[in-house]
Amino acid sequence: MSVQKNDDQSEFVQFWNEVLVPKFVKYKHVLVGGLSQHSEAIFPKLEVNSGDRIVDAGAGFGDTAIMLAERTGDGGHVMATDCCDGFLEYGRREADEKGVKNISFVVADIQRQTFEPVHDMMFSRFGTMFFENPVVAFKNMRTALKPDGRLTMIVWRTMEDNPWLGAAKAVALKHLPPPGEDADTCGPGPFSMAGQDMVTGQLRAAGYDRIEFERVDAPVRMGDSIEDAIAFQLALGPAGEVFREAGELGEQKREQIEADLRNLLEPHVTDDGVVMASSSWVITARNPA
Ligand SMILES: C[S@@+](CC[C@H](N)C(=O)[O-])C[C@H]1O[C@@H](n2cnc3c(N)ncnc32)[C@H](O)[C@@H]1O
Repeated sequence: MSVQKNDDQSEFVQFWNEVLVPKFVKYKHVLVGGLSQHSEAIFPKLEVNSGDRIVDAGAGFGDTAIMLAERTGDGGHVMATDCCDGFLEYGRREADEKGVKNISFVVADIQRQTFEPVHDMMFSRFGTMFFENPVVAFKNMRTALKPDGRLTMIVWRTMEDNPWLGAAKAVALKHLPPPGEDADTCGPGPFSMAGQDMVTGQLRAAGYDRIEFERVDAPVRMGDSIEDAIAFQLALGPAGEVFREAGELGEQKREQIEADLRNLLEPHVTDDGVVMASSSWVITARNPA
């Protein structure tokens, strides 16, 4: 499908709203439950002080924002931001159900939004890799921070370190052409912040200091069953993009692609769904003191 440019929204933000929200909602169990080990690995040691004011950038369904709100307590506050209200409404509902009151859900395109410099921390789990202009977005994120305020973001490492996405894309590319230059996409994509030197340069250019990277290797659970995992791969991520962009040709080859995905994923079926290796960076940086 083609996404029409709307002056109020960038093409990527429009793509997220129109194309990806319904797909993410369908696979919420993978995106919230299946990827959570990357934040669980760092949450116990994440510095969150009672009374902290925090922004969660690209908060999606809001689960990390709610956890941060519970940690910072009644004296603190979390602003969960995302460019898609269709995601945030899940967070609003969950916060209501849990009685979490120190949280707000704000629709914002981080590339166009500046903040009040009253926050102690900016957090993002897999929310920053889609920025068309990362330096502008990182600068905007820094406007939220007090002097010495902390940034923590989780991003994917390379495609090679993430076979759950890379190997599935290779299967799709065995049958289908790569997406063209004019493909409708979510933005630069999941691996755009895998390069340490490049991201260090972007963060420095945006004014941060004390930039550090920590590697986290953790399993991802990409479906309840092999059928669920195959459907997930054809709907989202790099394989899903190849399949979507191929249009009718993709549908014609669906049976062969599904058979090859089944061969790929079968060895990874466990008692707890389909589980594969993945790897992320936890990147921390500071607003200068
Ligand atoms: C892979 S999801 C991660 C969501 C959530 N943080 C999580 O870990 O489940 C990426 C999120 O970034 C949001 N996003 C992408 N570009 C954005 C932008 N320019 N401004 C704000 N949010 C953005 C998307 O809508 C989506 O919710």
